[in-house]
Amino acid sequence: MKYNFDKPTNRRNTYSVKWDVKDNVLPMWIADMDFETAPEIIEGFKERINQGIYGYNILPPSMFESYIYWWNKRYHFEIKKEWMVFSTGVIPSISSAVRRLTEVANNVVVMTPVYNIFFNSIVNNGRKPLQNKLLYKDGIYEVDWADLENKLALEETSALIFCNPHNPIGKIWTKEELIRIGELCKKYNVVVISDEVHGDLTRPGKSYIPFASVSETNLNNSLTLIAPTKCFNIAGIQTSMAVIPNPYLKHKFERGLNTDECAEANTLATIAPQLAFYKGEEWIDELREYVFANKDYVRDYINKEIPSLKVIESDALYLLWIDVSNVEPNGTKLRDYILDTTGLYLSDGEEYGEGGLSFLRMNLATQRSNVIDALSRLKKAIDLYQK
Ligand SMILES: Cc1ncc(COP(=O)(O)O)c(C=O)c1O
Repeated sequence: MKYNFDKPTNRRNTYSVKWDVKDNVLPMWIADMDFETAPEIIEGFKERINQGIYGYNILPPSMFESYIYWWNKRYHFEIKKEWMVFSTGVIPSISSAVRRLTEVANNVVVMTPVYNIFFNSIVNNGRKPLQNKLLYKDGIYEVDWADLENKLALEETSALIFCNPHNPIGKIWTKEELIRIGELCKKYNVVVISDEVHGDLTRPGKSYIPFASVSETNLNNSLTLIAPTKCFNIAGIQTSMAVIPNPYLKHKFERGLNTDECAEANTLATIAPQLAFYKGEEWIDELREYVFANKDYVRDYINKEIPSLKVIESDALYLLWIDVSNVEPNGTKLRDYILDTTGLYLSDGEEYGEGGLSFLRMNLATQRSNVIDALSRLKKAIDLYQK
């Protein structure tokens, strides 16, 4: 490997949300990575910082071009410049879209368990989340199509916030599923907000499929939210793009985003996508190898050493979803116990909505040494708990 993902990094006392914890705590919860980003990105940032002037910025054409280049090359999705709107983040875009494309008291559908912050974007804006709970059987998740259709058909339902690939379960949606979801949403006039921020981090040899790329119906009835932030570990830079081919939806969204003041880029946000997409390809492909080796390592260890836990097989995300129902149906209680007894800090599945309670989520975007440490803590906690 050209890049060394084993290289230790120390994020304590760096104002990191994840690492602002007690000394004995090993944080493997919030979704950011412990690796330095690509050296090519760091070099580009240094060059810009060395200019010494950090005034107001324009959005350079090269930023838009870099997204077009990457999605075309990697996902065969041809994005047009006139479809694109810069935003400071995926969540600001989702919240803004909810405010502009739905009305107060409308329903917004989410497929649960799902990234918890979607609920904030809905509830904080006075809309109602409707949970289309995924069917879970023998470690596999499927859509409950009848329930989805019932919820989309309700008169007050106006948007679906879709997670592609799906956090926390790590599912890559198939083309057929994307087409079927798109058709159902179109049938009931429900706009799709497709959050694709985890798209670049898939198992080597596997790729996610952009929602809008599979049919004209999907293209014309969706907002696709993409960014280099999550997968290149530059979330603190706050840069993202909304892709909205439908001119009416784009106009409404863009007006809202401007009113919400989320449409201006900070100094590093103006160059981050170009650095990631033009210079970071080798880095991210090696990162995928490393992260998925971590995932497989953890799965094999748990199957052998902690067989009361069940790892959900997944081809996307650096997050691992673990079924703890054989140990304790209330995963939150177990999460607290693991943290108290060993300092291993995982996310509880309950925050992700219906179907999440008996699960824990573990962030594996960290050095293998941390993974090994985490597993011995986990084993110790589960052994103690079962006694
Ligand atoms: C599915 C998903 N969407 C969005 C975000 C956050 O995106 P942003 O930082 O661009 O608001 C996260 C962060 O964990 C996420 O998992």
